[in-house]
Amino acid sequence: MDSLRSLFGTLPIVGSDVAYRWDTLYLFLTAVSAFFFVLVIGLMVYFVVKYRAGSGGQTKPIRDHHVLEITWTLVPTLLLLVIFAWGYLVYREMIQAPVNSMEVRVIGKQWSWSFQYDDGKVSPDLVVPINEPVKLIMSSDDVLHSMFIPNFRIKQDVVPGMYTTVWFEPTVTGKHEIYCAEYCGAAHSQMLSSVYVLSADEWARWKNGEDVLSQNLNTGTPTSAASTGTQAAGGSLVDQGAQLYRTKGCVACHSIDGATVIGPSFKGIWGHDVELTDGSKVKVDENYVRESIENPEAKKVKGFETMVMPPFKGQITEPEMNALIAFIKSHKD
Ligand code: CUA
Repeated sequence: MDSLRSLFGTLPIVGSDVAYRWDTLYLFLTAVSAFFFVLVIGLMVYFVVKYRAGSGGQTKPIRDHHVLEITWTLVPTLLLLVIFAWGYLVYREMIQAPVNSMEVRVIGKQWSWSFQYDDGKVSPDLVVPINEPVKLIMSSDDVLHSMFIPNFRIKQDVVPGMYTTVWFEPTVTGKHEIYCAEYCGAAHSQMLSSVYVLSADEWARWKNGEDVLSQNLNTGTPTSAASTGTQAAGGSLVDQGAQLYRTKGCVACHSIDGATVIGPSFKGIWGHDVELTDGSKVKVDENYVRESIENPEAKKVKGFETMVMPPFKGQITEPEMNALIAFIKSHKD
């Protein structure tokens, strides 16, 4: 991989497993292009000189040369199939997070990022342990943004009104830059943040509230709030969700013990398919729960046709939505 970096000179460091895979594919594409460039231009120059005007050279016409025709059809076809399969495999690896990934909620807004942890911490920077898969569950408070971490070679749009995800497994400790890669207004270029990748030991201490970032990282000074993360009022994300479940009135219609009160119970629904009034099925995930809270009429569950629930669109903030979803998710068993 060092050869790759020296070849281009401009690529950022390889900070994740998938970055290594992207770079290897990119190196292959460049090598194939360079090979054919030299072959085609080299032969062209050679023939221009050999058969120049007045040289007297003349080739015999070539007709019905099947070996030649099959070769120039088969070689590019096979090459393109290899490139397609390789690209598909790396792309699949990039979008499918391992099931044991640590989940961090990301909220993009004009013009900053914030990161919400399971334990309720909120930080303007992303702090993660090394060699652990991390899944980002991302939403926007206002307009379209895009989470871009060049050192990890990942980029994913952050879209208002829905959740998108991306994941990575960091392999290099220290500070890595985060950019917004979608024009989102006047201060788009200021929408910056950092990922701090910590050793397992430092990570445990950061989780306990120690200011390990400014102690041990000589790669840059983190913003003060990120040093320890801010503990949100209301405890863990699930606890905050439990509180909202009561204060927003969900409790009146949705039980958490499996009993049908007025609406469907939250018990055991997460990750399963539910049948809708039109007979189709939908998986209960972040996007379905969000839609059902914001616009309950969109996808009603079979058997609850007559249930009336007020739409909560605009009445629940992004951090609250994340907490409510974490609460429902915590009742999956
Ligand atoms: Cu957010 Cu550009």
